[in-house]
Amino acid sequence: MNLYRRLLATGSLAALVSFGAIANSAQAQDYPTRTITMIVPFAAGGPTDVISRIVTAHMAQTLGHSIIIENVVGAAGTTATARAARAANDGYTLITGHMGTHAASLPLYPKLAYHPEKDFEPIALLAGTPILILARKDFPPKDLKEFIAYVKANTEKVNAAHAGVGSVSHVSCELLNSLLDIKPIGVPFNGTGPAMNALVGGQVDYMCDQIVNAVPQINGGTIKAYAIATPERNPSLPNLPTTAEAGLPAFQAQAWNAIFAPKGTPGPVIAKLNAAAAKALDDEGVRKRLLDLGSVIPKPAERTPEALAALVKSEIAKWSPVLKPASN
Ligand code: MLT
Repeated sequence: MNLYRRLLATGSLAALVSFGAIANSAQAQDYPTRTITMIVPFAAGGPTDVISRIVTAHMAQTLGHSIIIENVVGAAGTTATARAARAANDGYTLITGHMGTHAASLPLYPKLAYHPEKDFEPIALLAGTPILILARKDFPPKDLKEFIAYVKANTEKVNAAHAGVGSVSHVSCELLNSLLDIKPIGVPFNGTGPAMNALVGGQVDYMCDQIVNAVPQINGGTIKAYAIATPERNPSLPNLPTTAEAGLPAFQAQAWNAIFAPKGTPGPVIAKLNAAAAKALDDEGVRKRLLDLGSVIPKPAERTPEALAALVKSEIAKWSPVLKPASN
């Protein structure tokens, strides 16, 4: 008789299983008892990193333990996301995913090593991030109409920075480029933090990036901004026209960043993390920092794990028919 049958015959297996369940549930009630790691799937200093650091600093106070940010770069965030999917599901390894890692990458990478819905427990949406059309400071076009004419006339010469195939910056500019029927040279970086440095340094021509990464540079006069791709202007940049006002109403794009845990992370752990994230989003200091950078703070009904699961599902349904498997 093998060990499994022997344990079953003596009733020990059932006892072991229920002991394990009690131990897991006790661990979940005590959670957290040590430092938590938040994987950020892009370079430090970019929008996902900045949003994660602002919110997790407050969450750590609520939870009574530090949250360490670990930037794991590569393949538009999919390397880190695959790693997070395989991490222990005990609440001590989390990831800030976004519209790219948890939606757009699915149709783009046929061999993606994780499934955004099947391999993760959604925890909380942290911020909506409108997309802006940006260019280096000395890029010749003065406004969006001139930009459109210029990139169409110079499509073989201009280049566009992005954070890898499937990243928010890549997918947003693919949408823009297809509307304009242009094929600029793509210049990939490990995140739009380093891509922004290249834009400021004049090494790349233009970029479609999340507002959080752009507000300080626009206000500092180190880059040009042509339009924000949302129906309304953003209070952090009141003088920046919408794409509709600037002459390209069809270009609408807004991304989002959210926390996920590996599938099977216990419900009480998810509930504690969700409550800590919601508390952070209600904190005046956190709100001010996020709003000053142009983020859209989710309303309470949008902060639940169920709302995030529905968002991921709808974003996969939105992007899957539009994006084809990447050839590069
Ligand atoms: C980043 O944090 O670098 C961005 O979220 C990258 C992107 O998806 O464009």
